[in-house]
Amino acid sequence: MAFHIIGTGSALPSRSVTNVELSEFLDTSDEWIVTRTGIRTRRLCTVESLDDLAVEASRQALDDAGIAAADLDLIICSTTTGDHIIPAEACAIAGRLGVACPAFDVSAACAGFVYALDVADGFLERGRARNVLVVAAEKMSRALDWTDRATCVLFGDGAAACVLAAGGASPLAFELSCMPDTESLAVSGIVGTSPFDSSVRDAGDGAHALKMDGRRVFKFGVTTICNAVEALCEHAQIDIDDIDRFIFHQANERILAAATARLGLDDAKVARTLADTGNISSACIPYTLDTLARDGSLAPGDLIALVGFGAGLATGSALIRWE
Ligand code: UT7
Repeated sequence: MAFHIIGTGSALPSRSVTNVELSEFLDTSDEWIVTRTGIRTRRLCTVESLDDLAVEASRQALDDAGIAAADLDLIICSTTTGDHIIPAEACAIAGRLGVACPAFDVSAACAGFVYALDVADGFLERGRARNVLVVAAEKMSRALDWTDRATCVLFGDGAAACVLAAGGASPLAFELSCMPDTESLAVSGIVGTSPFDSSVRDAGDGAHALKMDGRRVFKFGVTTICNAVEALCEHAQIDIDDIDRFIFHQANERILAAATARLGLDDAKVARTLADTGNISSACIPYTLDTLARDGSLAPGDLIALVGFGAGLATGSALIRWE
């Protein structure tokens, strides 16, 4: 076993935006958004940069862990919406924390935190690091078309972090997969201004905005959660009832409800944070973990299943033990 989580932290922008506020400039309503998604408010960046949120979440996690930034051997950040493409978001975090350990980003969309956790596990297992900071930071508001009611009401901004220390009872299982699909959920990359590149001429307005086939991703989400939980149980040779907490990607309350029903889970074990944050992509899982840890909902020895899914179509799931 390679690691245990010794500290968690999170940071959201100060500005909370209600569904009613969105309905002032979009053809939508609080009633539609709540009943179709479960989301009531989301936090959106106004003056905060993503670096600010990522660093605040990291500092909280280090405080919680009781270690100094100088004790870190590695920083991994999961993001697809960083303040800068170069350098990696993790380098900006390292800079603001005043450390010079290796730092790099992982890009696996909403599954990114679990992918980053698995990468960190590899470094710890191989003895290449003793303390690793894993951060997930997303400013989804910059990737959205704010005239598209089918997507912009769903997302929020935020960051969350965990400090992992070598040794411990985690992970019991990791399952990563990708069902290649670049159409169902996508944000195009930098177009640039190259006079030689035909894609510059072809790029229209809104080329960088998130595009999504909501129904397809919905079905993928429900199926993925169910398959992932079953695969984790098989891999770890445990019964589904042995799992104390389920932290699934927070995309839609109806996805959570459908997966909970299909797996026959005790609803009280399935964590929910999306009503107040919306979908903060890869930050959903560590944000929910931090929320549960801080409100005293986790007990030592608890088995926790994490399942992230999203663009790619990527899935990252893990079974960890809370210590
Ligand atoms: O991190 C992973 C990322 N994404 C997801 O996980 C999203 C997964 N998908 C979903 O959560 C749901 O598919 C949505 C919330 C995106 C959409 O819910 P739905 O029940 O699948 O609705 P729909 O797309 O079938 O649309 C139903 C109607 C449409 O109107 P018509 O064609 O029936 O007249 C939409 O135009 O709802 C309309 N609609 C809205 N109406 C009011 C779509 N968005 C809105 C809106 N307000 N914001």
